Amino acid sequence: MDPCVIGRERGNADSVANGTSLTGAHKSQEGRHEHNKQITHSMPPEKVEMFESLQGWAEAHVLPFLKPVEKCWQPQDFLPEPSSADFLDEVRELRARTADIPDDYLMCVIGDMITEEALPTYQTMINTLDGVRDESGASPSPWARWTRAWTAEENRHGDLLNKYLYLTGRVDMRAVEKTIQYLIGAGMVSFVFS
Ligand SMILES: [Fe+2]
Repeated sequence: MDPCVIGRERGNADSVANGTSLTGAHKSQEGRHEHNKQITHSMPPEKVEMFESLQGWAEAHVLPFLKPVEKCWQPQDFLPEPSSADFLDEVRELRARTADIPDDYLMCVIGDMITEEALPTYQTMINTLDGVRDESGASPSPWARWTRAWTAEENRHGDLLNKYLYLTGRVDMRAVEKTIQYLIGAGMVSFVFS
């Protein structure tokens, strides 16, 4: 799943506090328990119980979709090899190939890359969710293993796009890097599973 498909509203805690008191605990219409505009439970107990009861199903039917690392492509498969004597020539070829790419296209790739690079935010968001969160950071539960493996798989995407754009010489990388830092620092509020 691409991070782009996760519904979100970044950095706006007010948006999840419909009807909440500023000072007291509150149970929203969707069943989320909120306190001082902070969500303390992402879903009602019956939904938590449902996700916990599905652990066996997730083990048998979800985890098998994870591709072994050794069979996955890696960013380096698509980039000039820095240990090669031909590295600089390969970079020059890459820059020649990308010199005439319209700015509009590059903007799309930059937007994709920034979204991918905010991956820590998505993992954090997933781990706010009752019933599926990674309780220890290395939980053996199938939901937690899926989240970690999905994050690890996704991590390649930003790496590749970042390095590729860097090598083109067409992008103000410092501006992009600042945007990524702002984005991750802002966090996001999710409505997933509400
Ligand atoms: Fe991705």
